[in-house]
Amino acid sequence: MCGIIGYIGRRDAIPVLIKGLEHLEYRGYDSAGIACLNSSTSSNFFIAKEKGKLSELKSQLTKNLPHMHVGIGHTRWATHGEPSKLNAHPHLGEKGRIALVHNGIVENYAELKDELKRKGHHFKSKTDTEVAAHLIEYYYHGDLREAIRKAVRRMRGFFAFVVISRDEPNRLFACKRSNPLVIGVSAHEHFVASDISALLPYTKKVIYLEDDELVELQENTVTITQLGNGRRIQKKVSEVNWNVDQAQKGGFKHFMLKEIHEQPRVLAETLKKRIVDHDIEFDTLDSKIERSLANAKKVFIVSCGTAYHAGMVARYMFEEYVRIPTEVHVSSEFRYADPIIDKGDIVVLITQSGETADTLAALREAKQKGALTLAIVNVVGSTIAREADAVIYTHAGPEIGVASTKAYLAQLVTVALFVIKLGLLRKKISRSVLSKLIDAVEKLPYQLSEVLKQEPDIRRAARKFFRKKNFLYLGRGYNFPTALEGALKLKEITYAHAHGYAAGEMKHGPIALIDSEQLVVCLAPHSKTYEKMISNIEEIHARRGIIISIATSKDQTVSRLSRLVFWIPKTLELFSPILTVVPLQLFAYYVAILNSRDVDQPRNLAKSVTVE
Ligand code: F6R
Repeated sequence: MCGIIGYIGRRDAIPVLIKGLEHLEYRGYDSAGIACLNSSTSSNFFIAKEKGKLSELKSQLTKNLPHMHVGIGHTRWATHGEPSKLNAHPHLGEKGRIALVHNGIVENYAELKDELKRKGHHFKSKTDTEVAAHLIEYYYHGDLREAIRKAVRRMRGFFAFVVISRDEPNRLFACKRSNPLVIGVSAHEHFVASDISALLPYTKKVIYLEDDELVELQENTVTITQLGNGRRIQKKVSEVNWNVDQAQKGGFKHFMLKEIHEQPRVLAETLKKRIVDHDIEFDTLDSKIERSLANAKKVFIVSCGTAYHAGMVARYMFEEYVRIPTEVHVSSEFRYADPIIDKGDIVVLITQSGETADTLAALREAKQKGALTLAIVNVVGSTIAREADAVIYTHAGPEIGVASTKAYLAQLVTVALFVIKLGLLRKKISRSVLSKLIDAVEKLPYQLSEVLKQEPDIRRAARKFFRKKNFLYLGRGYNFPTALEGALKLKEITYAHAHGYAAGEMKHGPIALIDSEQLVVCLAPHSKTYEKMISNIEEIHARRGIIISIATSKDQTVSRLSRLVFWIPKTLELFSPILTVVPLQLFAYYVAILNSRDVDQPRNLAKSVTVE
C-alpha cells in the first residue's frame, strides 16, 4: 500500500508528481506529500505535505510554485504512526540532506532507531520510514548509491524506496524488495512509480524493477545495479498496452460505476481473445505447461478478498468440469499453514494487482514446496505475474475503484475458460459439451448488458433500504461465493454490517436473525440446488423477513416470495455468478451513495494490500 513516485527531467516536476499521485491515490489516502529539487543547483528541498486526501495537498499548492526538475511524491496508507502531517512522507535525514518516500515496512526500525538515537539523531515522526531516511543519511558521504546500499543491508522487511539528496540534485535513486516499482523511460526524462498507471500520461515504455535491484535515474540515463554486490544489470524495456483513457472516469461520477458498466466490454474482449475457432487459447501458456497443468493431481487456489471469492467459484468449476480435487485458501492462512503440497500439484494464485503481500508470500511458499504455480493476474508485469511459473492475464484494464468489480468478473470468466481448456485436455469435456459451453459463454456480454438495464430499479431498491444497518446474503453452490462477494461489496463501501452465508447453514444459527426488519438478499438462479434455495426463501418468508432475490427471468415462485427481484437471463450454472453479482455491485454502490460514502476511496482501505 502507499503509492510512491519519482521524476527527473526537463518538465516542471511538481505537476508531474501530483498527476502521478492522482493515479496512485487508490493505494492509500491518509496523507500525501512531495519533495523537489532544482537539478542545476544544490539547494534545500521544496517540501509540501498534508494530512488527508491528495486534494488537501493540491489546495496548498496553488500559487508561486518554484520550478523544479527532480522530485519524489507519496500517498500514504498508514502502518506505523497515525495519519497526520508529521507522519506524512517524504521524510528527511537528520541534517535534511536526504529525502525519501517509502512503500512497505522496515521491520527492525525500532532497533535501528534506538541505535541512531544513541548517535545523536532526533526523530520527528512515528514512522519506520523516517528511520530509513536517517540511516541512509548516516551512511552518506557524497555517494548516495553507496549510502543506500549500506543502509538497506541493515534493514529487514519489505520496501520500495525513492530517494534524492540535495547534494546530488541530478540523480534520483530507487530500490525495492517485495514491493513494486516500475521505471518509465522517455527522451530526456525518467520516472519511477509504484505502478504503471502513474506513468501512462507520459510514456508507455517501462522497465520492471526486480527485488534487490537499485536504479539510478538521470535525465538521460538509467543505470540498474544489484543492491548487494553493485554489479551492473542490463534490462529490457517493455511496451505497455494500457492507455491513459482507461484510467479516467469517462463521464461517470465514480470509477466504481464506470467499472461496473465496463463489464460487458471486458467480457466481450476476453472472449474474443480466448475463443479461437471454437477452441480456447491462452497466449501465455505453451503446450508443455498446459499438459503439466492438465496432469495435476490436485489444485490449490490461493487469493484474498474478492479474488478469494473468484477462487471459491473456481473450485466448483474445477471439480465439476476438470474432476481434479481442488482446495481454496485465503492467502494469509495458506502461507502459514505449512500446506501439504506434492510435486505435480498446481497452485493457482488469483490477484488483480499481482502485488498482494500474502498472495505473493503464498506463491513463494508453493514454489519452494515444488508446486507448479499459475498466476491469474490483471496487472501486466506485476511481481506475482513475473514470479509464477506461468501466467494468464485477465485483461480487465486498470481498475481504480478500491472495490473490485470488473476485475472480479474478468477473473470469473478467465477461470471458466481455463477450466474448459483443462477439461478438454483431460478429456472430461466432450466436443458436444464444449459447444454448449461456448454457446452459453458467448451470450454473456449481451446478457450482462440486459442485467445492467435494471439499474434504475436497483437504485430505487437502494433508496428503500439504504438506512438499514444489517444485511444478510444467502446463496448455495456456485452462488455461495456470490453471497460473500455481495456482502463484501456492501460492507466495504457503505460501512453497514453485511454477512454472507451458505443458505443451507441458515438453520444452524443465522435464522435467529430473521424478523420483519431483517433484509435478506437471496441468490436463487436456476441451478442444481434451486429447490433447496426456494425452501430457504420460504423459511425466511414464513418469518416475515424482507427478501430481495436475484433469480432467473420469469421465475414466478421467487417473485411470489420476494419483496423485490432482480433478474438474470438464463445461463449455465457455472456462468451464473458472472451475472448474479452485478445487481449486488450496483445495490452496494447506490446504498453507499445515499449514505454519502466515498465510494472510490472507502475509509481504511487501499487497493493493493502490500503489507501483511
Ligand atoms: C474488495 C477488494 C479486495 C481485493 C483483495 C485482493 O473489493 O478489492 O478484497 O480483492 O485485496 O487484491 P488482489 O486481487 O489485488 O490480490
